[in-house]
Amino acid sequence: MNLRQRRKKHLGNASSFFYKQPLHIVKGEDVWLIDSNGKRYLDVYNNVAHIGHSNPEVVDAISKQAATLNTNTRYIHESIIQLAEQLTATMDKGLEVCYFCCSGSEANDLALQLARNYTQQKGCLVTKNAYHGNTSVVFQMSPEDCSLEFREGWVGLVGGPREYLDNKEKHLSDSFKVAEELKKEGQAPAAFIADNIFSSDGIFSVPEGYLKNMYDLVRSFNGLTIADEVQSGFGRTGKHMWGFQHDDVVPDIVTLGKPMGNGHPLAAVITTHEIAQTFNKKYGYFNTFGGNPVAAAAGLAVIKYIHKHGLIEHAQSVGSYFKEELEQLASSLNTIEDVRGSGLFIGIEMRSNNEASEALERLLDEGILVGQTGPDNKVLKLRPPITFKKEHADIAIQGIKKALTLEA
Ligand SMILES: Cc1ncc(COP(=O)(O)O)c(C=O)c1O
Repeated sequence: MNLRQRRKKHLGNASSFFYKQPLHIVKGEDVWLIDSNGKRYLDVYNNVAHIGHSNPEVVDAISKQAATLNTNTRYIHESIIQLAEQLTATMDKGLEVCYFCCSGSEANDLALQLARNYTQQKGCLVTKNAYHGNTSVVFQMSPEDCSLEFREGWVGLVGGPREYLDNKEKHLSDSFKVAEELKKEGQAPAAFIADNIFSSDGIFSVPEGYLKNMYDLVRSFNGLTIADEVQSGFGRTGKHMWGFQHDDVVPDIVTLGKPMGNGHPLAAVITTHEIAQTFNKKYGYFNTFGGNPVAAAAGLAVIKYIHKHGLIEHAQSVGSYFKEELEQLASSLNTIEDVRGSGLFIGIEMRSNNEASEALERLLDEGILVGQTGPDNKVLKLRPPITFKKEHADIAIQGIKKALTLEA
């Protein structure tokens, strides 16, 4: 049996491949992925290797720590405390308690538990095509995957930036009605949660006032606000460390994941003492692997690297250059409907899902990896490691130009 058959036999088919001919990647180097034939691909997709694949400083930090000690957060350990201090130092005053876990799904699951416990309400307001994870509760908050037939009554869907930009008043009055409906059914919203680059909703930088208005709305129902920074965090969107900071709001709960350990499983929930205490008094929280010393070493190395290399400003300047070049390309190609995003998180909206899928495969032939997202799956997702440079953007632009101008 070949690798593909063996994979199918023992992993099943829960997780689909990105490409018709699946890639067999054996090595990663900064913004490059190398397959088993030695072919190099420019990685314009993988945000988890945030500061570059196999980043030597992360590798060094985790290997030294693994060779020394790996326990859990029931012991005192300097690194996890330092990590909590460094993370909370980047957020507004009040957000100073961290819970550590291993995935974005666990983080969002805990965030909803905290909100439900604090508000004694059950519902949750979620944007229409969001993805927040895969636990049985968080799956419900992920309409991208959880279709209407499986959706429970406590989930209320509100428009994302597209609806807000189309008609702000309507967006707010529709969202208000959704919250009212939940309340009438005895499931008033415990929280409003948003991914602050709206990746699965089609990739949008936070429109001015969107979060402010939605935060006011849910707070008027005594609900809390959850900033899901699993995709938008750690400087990716440029200018700020966190996506919510683009709209100058202060959430009650922030969740982190993906880039946090540069590939090492590390995620977190950050909230206030008041919210945490109300929860801890009743339940407490422990996660065997979450925030262990090796994970903490990875997290510290990531933050250090971001600051040492000015990667937030870098994401802003390279991202702006990349986006401008793409906008220019879009103006000469009628297959592209829109170019959006912020920093090094850019979406190219194609006319159709088919055109997006074709472009994805053609880009693969050009040695360029991108993703596909959005309500109709017609947005190409460009979200490379944030060490991505102008010269890489130029390679990507040439590839995209070629892939999109080829005759079908
Ligand atoms: C915005 C957002 N939140 C949460 C998650 C869940 O994270 P994980 O896959 O680490 O459980 C994802 C994963 O894609 C995500 O995109």
